[in-house]
This record gives sequence, C-alpha cells and structure tokens, in this order.
Amino acid sequence: MSSRTILISGASRGIGRAIAERLLADGHQLSLGVRNPAALQGTALDHPRVLLHPYNAEEPAAAEAWVRASVSQFGAIDSVVHSAGVFSRVPLLFESGQEQEIQQLWDVNVMGPWWLTRAAWPQLAAHGAGRIVVLVSMSGKRSKGRLAGYTASKFALMGLCQTMRNEGWEQGIRVTAICPSWVNTDMAAAVNAMPKEAMSQPGDIASLTAQLLELPNSCVPFELAVSCNLET
Ligand SMILES: NC(=O)c1ccc[n+]([C@@H]2O[C@H](COP(=O)([O-])OP(=O)(O)OC[C@H]3O[C@@H](n4cnc5c(N)ncnc54)[C@H](OP(=O)(O)O)[C@@H]3O)[C@@H](O)[C@H]2O)c1
Repeated sequence: MSSRTILISGASRGIGRAIAERLLADGHQLSLGVRNPAALQGTALDHPRVLLHPYNAEEPAAAEAWVRASVSQFGAIDSVVHSAGVFSRVPLLFESGQEQEIQQLWDVNVMGPWWLTRAAWPQLAAHGAGRIVVLVSMSGKRSKGRLAGYTASKFALMGLCQTMRNEGWEQGIRVTAICPSWVNTDMAAAVNAMPKEAMSQPGDIASLTAQLLELPNSCVPFELAVSCNLET
C-alpha cells in the first residue's frame, strides 16, 4: 500500500476522528483542519506524521491557508476527506429566526467542502490519482423525517460531489460520496429510534474510507450507501 498525504476536516470528533486514527495507523501522512488544534495535543493524533492546523469551515479564507500550510509541510497533497458537518432539525415550515440555522447548514455542509475542494484542486489534479471522500448522508439521497434544512444541504453536497467527479475524471481524481443513515457519534446522540450499538459505527466508516484510498482509478465507487436500517 502506498502512503498518501490526506487532508481531513472534522477530525476533532466522530467519523472524522475515527478516519484520522485509522489512516494514521495505516501509515499515511495527515493534515487535520480543526477549529481547536490544541484540543488534539497529547492525543494519538499528536504525531510526527500529522499536521494540526486551524480551520473553520465557515471562513472562506481558512481553506486556502490550511492547504498552503499542508503543501509547505508535506510538499504535496493527494487526498481530501470532508467530514466536518452540522446537523439541525430545522423543518420545512421553519420559525422566524431559524434562517440563521439554514445559513449555517449551507455554509458548513456545502460551502465548506466547496471552498476546500477548490483550494486543494490543483494538488489533486497534479497527482494523477487524487481522491476526494465526502461524508454526505442518506439525507443527500432521499428526504425522510422533518429535516428540510439538513436534507437540502446534503442534496446540494451530493450535486457538488457529482460535479467534482465529472470535472476531475480526466485528471485521475476519483470522488466517493459516503451516505450513511445513523452513525453512533455526537451528531446522533439525541436519536432514540434505535440503540446506539445498532447504528453504523465510526470505526466501520473509517475502514471503508481506508479501503477506498487503496483502490486504483479504475475501481473507485462513486457512492456508498450505508444503511443501519431498512430503507423503504
Ligand atoms: N452521525 C451520523 O448519524 C451521520 C450520518 C450521515 C452523515 N453524517 C455526516 O458525517 C459527517 C461527520 O459527522 P459526525 O457524525 O462525525 O458529527 P460530529 O460527531 O457532530 O462531528 C462533527 C465534526 O464537524 C466539525 N465541525 C462542525 N462545524 C465546523 C466548522 N464550522 N468548521 C470546522 N469543523 C466543523 C466538528 O468540529 P468541532 O469539534 O470543532 O465542533 C466535528 O469535528 C457530517 O458531515 C455529517 O453530516 C453523519
């Protein structure tokens, strides 16, 4: 297995954290963009093969700065894992004042990955086998429950994934949209519809991601629908 140099957003907690720990164990070099790098000091991710860099997905300039620092540290980047995201139950008939929640869903879940992909694109294209893994959701494939704001943001993110796939194809960039239903993280902490152990586990999403990064350009799936429950 050849080692990669991978940017990961959302690595402070949850799925992104599990992916970072797995990819570090697999021998890759990692650049982790997090809002509070100091919180990862002294953890397993505080490691010579890991750059911890400040990154707030709501700040457009943050992506450029993070990519620049990563290239300066490692010389090049060949993969990006987009795991930073926010969840909200803002419904179709939202209350006045909830526009801000919708704006945050858009800024973090859509514009965050967009700015970051744009900043990293020249590096990914130059590599010839660049990889982009995006934590979308089953909410990017179908609408269920009263989650208009989250669902709209994830459908938009899926549209972005398809566009990245199309525009990166000739340069060897391969994109995978991972679409889980519930994963046992803080984001699903308030879900009572099923026991936490019956949900998909972050470490299993990390295993899928690790395998995706080993596949050749001719065999990378565009979409992985990962349901812990029957989708009807
Ligand atoms: N858990 C699920 O059931 C589930 C299902 C389908 C899809 N997903 C998607 O999977 C991804 C990861 O979710 P998760 O379950 O790991 O969620 P989580 O445990 O709530 O973690 C969210 C991560 O996103 C980061 N983040 C949030 N806002 C940010 C911002 N403005 N700038 C930078 N980072 C920010 C958080 O950083 P801080 O620590 O700084 O807050 C944290 O690292 C999300 O895109 C989510 O929509 C999750």
